[in-house]
Amino acid sequence: MSKNEVVETTEAQIAVHWKEEEYYYPSSKFVGQANLTDPAVFDRFSLDNFPDYYTEYAELLTWYKYWDEVLDSSDAPCYKWFKGGKLNASYNCIDRHLKDNKNKTAIHFVPELEEERVQHITYQELYVRVNEFAALLRDTAKLKRGDRVTIHMPMGPDLPITMLACARLGVIHSVVFGGFSPSASADRIVDSQSRVLIVTDAYYRAGKLLNHKFNADEAVKIAAEQGQTVDTVLVWQRYPGKYSSETPMIEGRDIFVNEKLKDHYGARVEPEQMLSEDPLFLMYTSGTTGKPKGCQHGTGGYLAYVAAMSKYIQDIHPEDVYWCMADIGWITGHSFIVYGPLALCASSVIYEGVPTYPDAGRSWRIAQELDVNIFHTAPTAIRALRKLGPDEPAKYNYHFKHMTTVGEPIEPAVWKWYESAVGKGEAIIVDTYWQTETGGFLCSTVPGIKPMKPGSAGPGVPGIHPIIYDDEGKEVAEPGIAGNICIQNPWPGMFQTIWGDRDRFVDTYFAMYNTKPDSKDWRDWPYLTGDAATMSEDGYYRVLGRIDDVINVSGHRLGTKEIESAALVVEEVAEAAVVPVAHEIKGKEPDLYIALKPGIPATDELAQKISDAICEQIGKIAKPRKVWLVPDMPKTRSGKIMRRVLGAISNKGDVGNVMTLANPEVVEEIREMVQK
Ligand code: PRX
Repeated sequence: MSKNEVVETTEAQIAVHWKEEEYYYPSSKFVGQANLTDPAVFDRFSLDNFPDYYTEYAELLTWYKYWDEVLDSSDAPCYKWFKGGKLNASYNCIDRHLKDNKNKTAIHFVPELEEERVQHITYQELYVRVNEFAALLRDTAKLKRGDRVTIHMPMGPDLPITMLACARLGVIHSVVFGGFSPSASADRIVDSQSRVLIVTDAYYRAGKLLNHKFNADEAVKIAAEQGQTVDTVLVWQRYPGKYSSETPMIEGRDIFVNEKLKDHYGARVEPEQMLSEDPLFLMYTSGTTGKPKGCQHGTGGYLAYVAAMSKYIQDIHPEDVYWCMADIGWITGHSFIVYGPLALCASSVIYEGVPTYPDAGRSWRIAQELDVNIFHTAPTAIRALRKLGPDEPAKYNYHFKHMTTVGEPIEPAVWKWYESAVGKGEAIIVDTYWQTETGGFLCSTVPGIKPMKPGSAGPGVPGIHPIIYDDEGKEVAEPGIAGNICIQNPWPGMFQTIWGDRDRFVDTYFAMYNTKPDSKDWRDWPYLTGDAATMSEDGYYRVLGRIDDVINVSGHRLGTKEIESAALVVEEVAEAAVVPVAHEIKGKEPDLYIALKPGIPATDELAQKISDAICEQIGKIAKPRKVWLVPDMPKTRSGKIMRRVLGAISNKGDVGNVMTLANPEVVEEIREMVQK
């Protein structure tokens, strides 16, 4: 792929113009305490030593039985890590810490309302609650090893308790982001064949108590229409003992967890001895087609990987107070609020609400009050905090030693504000590049070893060997030239397959560069991330954005097809096309172009109806910046919608030569409409 072509692809325009920045070095104070400072790690983790080097990660865990084989690639590219090994994730995140640390805080829960007290849940308390809830899942909801359960819950301590209780029983959890719509939840219920749905009645968001139970009722209804019956809905209460939703409970189906738990007080549930390759959870993510993909993550490989990343890249020590501001409903929250930090016996902060509620100082007050020293967030939040309160961090007495940015490329200017204002010039920053599919980090600097470079994620983390290929599969070795970033080797954190769809797994992530479909040799199966990237002289990678039809909004992936098919549900719509448009805080936003069926007048009400339909089906996160009702879509002579042209119009760019289109005149009409 040539540089010009990459600039033309949907998302990949953002960072290619950034100049190479100067290095920032970690302080000797940081290096002095860091978990990993010996550069020899990169020799140990060279491809020559693959896959055995990953035993170092597995040894961070407690196993009932050690593995027989580090990597089984007999079913490549579906791999089994630490094959034959047995362990339990809940045991590793809780039980094994009790002997020395039972009175230590595992979770600090910060409610959004400042007048409510912060809850500090010790490891012992977490143990008690997870056991009791596991007993409820087993005895009341009749869940057993291998079953799937859908969890649609907001940020609160009950969410990790629910996940860990599932893990204790070997039940595969599928957490749906709390802000997603009932319809998104229903799709995931159907795809994972869940007969149990777990929700919370209500939660606070920007000062409002939202009725969340409503979503459960709708989701169950939609799932039933698609043939999946949910027979049990477990309802946690935001205020235990009090119901905070207006939606009635349904007799025989809905159960108040807090009431039912009384039957299980004092219960202890022996953790299931899971095989390392047994699935731990599903996490759905957007792809190029409308249907979200259930990324299936295994137990031993995943947990070993996130524990190692938490230790060596997040540099978490047991005495740290660690706050990752992501939502547990995304992979970042799974790996870096719940499983990674708890596996290391850290104290992990869970904040219920909006980082800037009720004002731009809120995050820093939380940091001050809890004495947070490791902080983890995304560029979209950093941009918002910078815009709304550039001088706020200085007003509060907190000190971070380590900060993370994740989810999208970060502009060097924003990175520098993060470093100087939020980090007060004292914190190191890791820019971690990874995906839902990858379970943990792909690229990042090792903070005690490598210097930082604003705008660059850094080299592959120890054990990950990235490579950039052009479209023909030739390596792009020249620095600064963009291509498709791939990973040469498998790694333990990588997802095992797409739930129920091995062919799609192989096609989407491996087919492009695999020339021997029957090969059992991992070397024949480079992993395609779907991102464009460049590598610089020093081996640091800069990720430019997606090469497929995915838009990264506030660090979350939305499939353009997903949004388009939501629009097409509106009867009056004939054709829909979504393009990403640059946004100051969110990074990108979807712009939606609609051609109506003949004879239907374009009205503001109709545009609103289409926008509402998208929020209803996917969630507010997918709300288009604007719905443009256009006379016709610009099309090639073969009838393909030219999204590139629409993208250029939305971003006030140059549409290029459109004379070869079937209807070039419409381009000018649309341009006037949008750019006026
Ligand atoms: O395009 C890359 C971007 O986010 C995508 C993964 O999104 P998701 O699966 O939702 O996971 C988000 C949290 C890991 C990637 O394909 N991305 C992620 N991290 C970075 C990034 N782009 C640039 N720099 C990053 N640090």
